[in-house]
Amino acid sequence: MAEAVRVLKALDLGFEMEEAHLGGCAVDATGNPYPEATQKLAQAADAVLLGAVGGPKWDTLPREQRPERGLLGIRKQLGLFANLRPAILYPELANASTLKPEVVAGLDILIVRELTGDIYFGQPRGIEVRDVDGLSQRFGFNTMHYTESEIRRIGRVAFEAARKRNKKVCSVDKMNVLETTQLWRDVMIELAPEYPDVELTHMLVDNAAMQLVKAPKQFDVMVTGNMFGDILSDEASMLTGSIGMLPSASLDANNKGLYEPSHGSAPDIAGKGIANPLATILSAAMMLRYTFNQEAAAQRVEAAVKKVLAQGFRTGDIYEPGTKKVGTKEMGDAVLAAL
Ligand code: IPM
Ligand code: MG
Repeated sequence: MAEAVRVLKALDLGFEMEEAHLGGCAVDATGNPYPEATQKLAQAADAVLLGAVGGPKWDTLPREQRPERGLLGIRKQLGLFANLRPAILYPELANASTLKPEVVAGLDILIVRELTGDIYFGQPRGIEVRDVDGLSQRFGFNTMHYTESEIRRIGRVAFEAARKRNKKVCSVDKMNVLETTQLWRDVMIELAPEYPDVELTHMLVDNAAMQLVKAPKQFDVMVTGNMFGDILSDEASMLTGSIGMLPSASLDANNKGLYEPSHGSAPDIAGKGIANPLATILSAAMMLRYTFNQEAAAQRVEAAVKKVLAQGFRTGDIYEPGTKKVGTKEMGDAVLAAL
């Protein structure tokens, strides 16, 4: 985060920036993963740049107090229903992928994940003791649901995004089993005539998981629900072999957004000064693009990141022999110099 903030300051665009706790640090400071002071600042802001939230230190807490609840809380409270997760293979990092180079060379996928609905937020939910099958036993349950308006608005985001790319949307569902996703498919089909320039296809989620590793370049934009999107976006990010490089945006209906790296908090290296800051820096670039309409500034940041890769700077996660291994701050320095 520190490096991304330095980059934003260096651009000198006149932003007012404030800092607040969310997730593990907020639990430590206040006992609440999404404290009221943070809520006020987040609601008043045009955009939020977020670090990753969890770690083993908080793993034994009750679910409502876990760091993840802070993240889910801010997404829901700010209405950030549209999660954009690009998976791009940087040519300089082609060897980082575990897949064959010809399978992933030039990979550029955008996963559009619905972020405020689905089984993540469905009620009722819980673990209760119930009489089932003649036994008094613990019973766990969640509820999966979508309204057609929720599906339509995320569908539009995907179609609009595809218009600016290769004009293909693949909608991912499980309509052979789940009614909510039958509705998902129906609504996508109803939307398609409004976007005659975009090709719509459908794929069942299990097949999509397979196709992503078999032939990922067949995809341009993939749109799917909250839970399938959680899983497929992790899979897609790993095709590139460098999750430390991938940013994400979570937008509301007016392009207010929360921007965060796609990776988690990497507790095993926390505080050592060796984490890769590029995903957060690239998240700041997405923020410039989507919330502030500063396309030129966004491209400057992205170009600076490409330049430091071309210059051979690598943090440990993307290091290979023959390149220059640097820590978090040195990587930030290199990006600033390139800017
Ligand atoms: C993500 C994460 C979160 C999610 C967790 C931390 C709650 O996995 O952003 O993909 O499941 O949405
Ligand atoms: Mg996830």
